[in-house]
Amino acid sequence: MKLYMNPNRIVGHINPEIYGHFSEHLGRCIYEGLFVGKDSPIPNTNGMRNDVVEALKDMKIPVLRWPGGCFADEYHWRDGIGPKEDRKKLINTHWGGVVEDNSFGSDEFMELCRQLGCKTYINGNLGSGTVQEMSEWIEYLTYDGVSPMAELRAKNGHKEPYSVDYFAVGNENWGCGGNMTPEYYGNLYRRYQTYVRNYNPEKPIYKIACGPNVDDYEWMREVLHTTHRHAPDFLHGFMDGISLHYYTIPGGWENKQSATVFDEKGWYETLNRALFIETLIKRHGEILRQYDESGKIGFIVDEWGTWFACEPLTNPGFLYQQNTMRDALVAGISLNIFNKHCNLVKMANIAQLVNVLQSVILTEGEKMLLTPTYHVFHMYQKHQDSDLIDSYLDTKEIGLEEKFMVPNLSESVSIDKDGKLQLTLNNLSLDESYQVDGMISEKKAVAVNGTILTNEMDAYNTFSQPDKVKTQRFEAVKLTEKGITLTIPPCSVVHLEIELEQ
Ligand code: AHR
Repeated sequence: MKLYMNPNRIVGHINPEIYGHFSEHLGRCIYEGLFVGKDSPIPNTNGMRNDVVEALKDMKIPVLRWPGGCFADEYHWRDGIGPKEDRKKLINTHWGGVVEDNSFGSDEFMELCRQLGCKTYINGNLGSGTVQEMSEWIEYLTYDGVSPMAELRAKNGHKEPYSVDYFAVGNENWGCGGNMTPEYYGNLYRRYQTYVRNYNPEKPIYKIACGPNVDDYEWMREVLHTTHRHAPDFLHGFMDGISLHYYTIPGGWENKQSATVFDEKGWYETLNRALFIETLIKRHGEILRQYDESGKIGFIVDEWGTWFACEPLTNPGFLYQQNTMRDALVAGISLNIFNKHCNLVKMANIAQLVNVLQSVILTEGEKMLLTPTYHVFHMYQKHQDSDLIDSYLDTKEIGLEEKFMVPNLSESVSIDKDGKLQLTLNNLSLDESYQVDGMISEKKAVAVNGTILTNEMDAYNTFSQPDKVKTQRFEAVKLTEKGITLTIPPCSVVHLEIELEQ
């Protein structure tokens, strides 16, 4: 197979936020997974688990979305501030019917992001909250002056304002966020966002509208039509991004399948469904550009990943699932697609960070493990803030069923700030290895270093065997006259760093 790479042709810039994550008050994501409270015997800093924070920093988490998801449109931020003993206890009606004691609220989220060194993405409540409530949340978080909310924040121990980097005006308002029509939501978006004030003009908040579910092109078109109609003057700073939610669900919603017990057909079906995200990006992107010719509005894939049946004997409302090499490949091919569409995709947030759906970390009491998906994010981290270069890879179609065929290989290539090429390559085949001859235009490769993640298709890490699936040094690569040559084994994700002659 031939791979062509042209470092002289920069295609776009890869926003670090493409490697973003999502944390919801769902199951054991926030409570237990991230936050254990100051009095926990689990080592923590201001209540945040030290082991989890360290692992996420090492993976270079760029941005974190919170508090939902469906939870967001029922979340009233004032319930989660002030002395812990005074905070409201209520039932998390969306997820598992458990008691939400609100001990993790806005100040705790900001503390978590401070420890992680990542940007903040808050999802506002448009479904059941008022305009005033949303507006005062922004005031509480970001206003630096004399105001009731800034005073309240100072009283809670935070005189300095926080930075809200991204803010979504509602979540899935076509569904759990209020079951709205696109026209109705579009009008509400116009109204609510008006009061999401930029109190710090140096760091304006990036405002995100609720976009479509999967292939709901009508939602995309109508929301954009309604928001852009009769609005020429206030378009500046009015909408910076619009979201997409797409989950890879082999078997479909009604027939979700096991995360760990599957056959080869299940492997190819899953990868085929994951690849569909590229079609969605292209088609929704075309609609978006009809309304935004300048390309200012970003496409924000703020929920993506695999969704399988919950692990047996766990609360079905907690959406806890294991994570195998199949998830690693879904992550690898999806991130390659986002890189390739970096001129449109400005942020993506895999669902969800810890103990829910396609997580990078699982915890059990004081134990923690890194999933295969974690390793992929770790391997891809050097794409963050690099420039995508033009590349082309010969591929062929493989699979077992006509409707679920996939290309045998997937790749993306960027050039980092030090001038090194960052190549990520996936082999989707379960039984064939491939020789890949990489040709680099006009530059000579002088060194190459690689890492590989490979194992059986259904291999996963457990608390008794946490390192069954882990990265290794990749040796099957060497320099050639024209670039590099390598042999990629079946079912694997590879990262190569290629140094070029200056
Ligand atoms: O990630 C789980 C749920 O999936 C989110 O809460 C919701 O936005 C989506 O339907």
